[in-house]
Amino acid sequence: MVEPTRARVAVDVRAGALGAEEADAVRRLVADAAAQDGVAPVSEQPLLWLRSDEAPVVHVLARSGAAADGELAGYAQVDVGATTSASAELVVHPSARREGVGTALLTTARETAARVPDRTLRVWAHGATPAARSFAAAVGMPVVRELWRMSLDLADRPDRPDRPLPPHVTVRPFVPGEDEEAWRRVNSRAFAYHPEQGRMTSADLRAREAEAWFDPAGFLLAEREGLLLGSVWTKVHAAGELGDEPVGEIYVVGVDPDAQGLGLGGALTDLGLTHLAARGLRRAVLYTGAENEVAIRTYRRVGFEPESVDVMFGSDTPGSPGGVTMAP
Ligand SMILES: CC(C)(COP(=O)(O)OP(=O)(O)OC[C@H]1O[C@@H](n2cnc3c(N)ncnc32)[C@H](O)[C@@H]1OP(=O)(O)O)[C@@H](O)C(=O)NCCC(=O)NCCS
Repeated sequence: MVEPTRARVAVDVRAGALGAEEADAVRRLVADAAAQDGVAPVSEQPLLWLRSDEAPVVHVLARSGAAADGELAGYAQVDVGATTSASAELVVHPSARREGVGTALLTTARETAARVPDRTLRVWAHGATPAARSFAAAVGMPVVRELWRMSLDLADRPDRPDRPLPPHVTVRPFVPGEDEEAWRRVNSRAFAYHPEQGRMTSADLRAREAEAWFDPAGFLLAEREGLLLGSVWTKVHAAGELGDEPVGEIYVVGVDPDAQGLGLGGALTDLGLTHLAARGLRRAVLYTGAENEVAIRTYRRVGFEPESVDVMFGSDTPGSPGGVTMAP
């Protein structure tokens, strides 16, 4: 379906996997915007969903008369997996900005969200650049969630042993093909309140296992008597992704609600950092909800400091706390 909108912008709304060439055009658009803005406008999950038939998303492709054949002026991905609110990430090519492309994408994203009565739309702005803030203000969307990136200099890490694990708890690496279901169960319990992380399926997990960065040696499971209590999952970003040097990420720390308060979260974070330092990395990052004081306190204690912010704009009031990569 191709719908003409104002200012020579044609918007193509699609469900299901994009073709290989279209997905490449989206990746090029995202890379061009990232080079211009200094921050990637679309996060990992939407990029993994470009070629997925099962993803709960709608793709919105914007072409304008000025763009070369096959090149996109803009792209939005609307996550329609939840019934109360849909979330979107949207990007306009740097050479096509201030021409109404962003407004056209947003209008279509809002219409997509509104296919379910009373479902609202929220939009993520990574880095919350002045353009994104002005755009959100212009279209009447206030801030509803804030996600911090915190970072730590691994070389400056105090030279002390890792925090001890609670009694009888042992740690071992994740085994692909065996641990998926147990991990998914604990993850969904630990992040029951979290709109994205808590909803990760075994298929989402397997998609990450297929990524080049996936390394089970940096994905540690904590067990007591064979029962999974929590995990720390690290990720190494290649040079160029988050700066000139490779960077380690504390990707997910989750502790089952029944095992929270024992010091397991802090001990697992230490083990993750020790793993990243042993890989020769000098910087570690993590993402956490600005309102998650317990997680932020834990991370500050380890030495993390806030570095940048992602902002979610929407037109309704915030529901769950959300935006947190660590269960307290
Ligand atoms: C934010 C973004 C999507 C805007 O796209 P766009 O196509 O330039 O937006 P529009 O042309 O529809 O702009 C609509 C209004 O937003 C405001 N606006 C947009 N960019 C602005 C800027 N750089 N400075 C000031 N106001 C701006 C203006 O009021 C504009 O209307 P006007 O041009 O008539 O003054 C684009 O800059 C982008 O892709 N940024 C990187 C990704 C991102 O931040 N996405 C999250 C968006 S919430």
